[in-house]
Amino acid sequence: MSNVNFTHFRFLPLSMRVLFTMVLLVFGIGYLMAMIQVWENHAGKDGDPMLTAKDLMIAYSGNPDGTKLETALRGSMSDMLPAEKRETIFTWLHEGANMDEFDARINPILQEHCVMCHSPDGNPHLPDFTSAAGVAKVTATDEGMTLHTLIRVSHIHLFSITFIFFIIGYIYTHAFVRPTWLKCVVIAVPFATLITDVASWYLTKVWTGFAWVVIGSGALMGISFAIMWFTSMWQMWFWKVPASITEKNGLIPCVHSEAH
Ligand code: HEC
Repeated sequence: MSNVNFTHFRFLPLSMRVLFTMVLLVFGIGYLMAMIQVWENHAGKDGDPMLTAKDLMIAYSGNPDGTKLETALRGSMSDMLPAEKRETIFTWLHEGANMDEFDARINPILQEHCVMCHSPDGNPHLPDFTSAAGVAKVTATDEGMTLHTLIRVSHIHLFSITFIFFIIGYIYTHAFVRPTWLKCVVIAVPFATLITDVASWYLTKVWTGFAWVVIGSGALMGISFAIMWFTSMWQMWFWKVPASITEKNGLIPCVHSEAH
């Protein structure tokens, strides 16, 4: 039958193994940073400091009971001001965000703690809190990420993550893993979950339960990444190569039954 072989890591030139190892190291750090970034962006939106499915539902589909201002103050902006001033803002929001009270109760807080960033001079891409109109933008009901943002984030995600998993999957093809179907599944899963993940961001707007698909996809992607990372590193440098592979100078037939 098939006489196509692939070469095990240990029989690749040292230079290639060094290249693979350095790429894996940087991707490993990159993956950790990506996880921290997900946490920073989403954890705590629902009031619970942990990252929950509710947080993702709010991030993508919005929060019918909340405003962008409240979501931000329970999430990434929570450290920007003392807790009692946060409560003042929440109370004001829950009472209907009355603009008559804005100048007396709320504006002084924003001026003291927020405008250094939230002004055209601070950062022109952020909501501008030097004008009442700018504040009104974040006191309207939170409808989550706009379609425009989702499309921008999805195309970046689809292209960049495909690159990462093409490279790491290619490295992992040099590992000795049996049964072969398992190796193939580990290589294929990240691409399949990339599609279900991105699709679920949109679908969460239709039915919030899709937040669980986002979580499941992310988890499976992480597991595949970890399997490929550790198997490759281990077999490249530490694994004791079986005689059946050494005898063939590292060439491994694609069909196991022919190995002996
Ligand atoms: C050190 C700079 C800085 C300060 C101070 C700051 N912010 Fe922000 N804010 C940001 C950045 C950067 C973002 C965008 C990234 C993010 O959401 O974390 C942001 C995002 C937001 C958003 C979400 C905007 C959106 O379109 O979803 C809100 C609302 C917000 N901030 C409110 C506040 C409030 C209220 C304060 C004061 C208590 C404050 N910020 C203080 C930098 C700052």
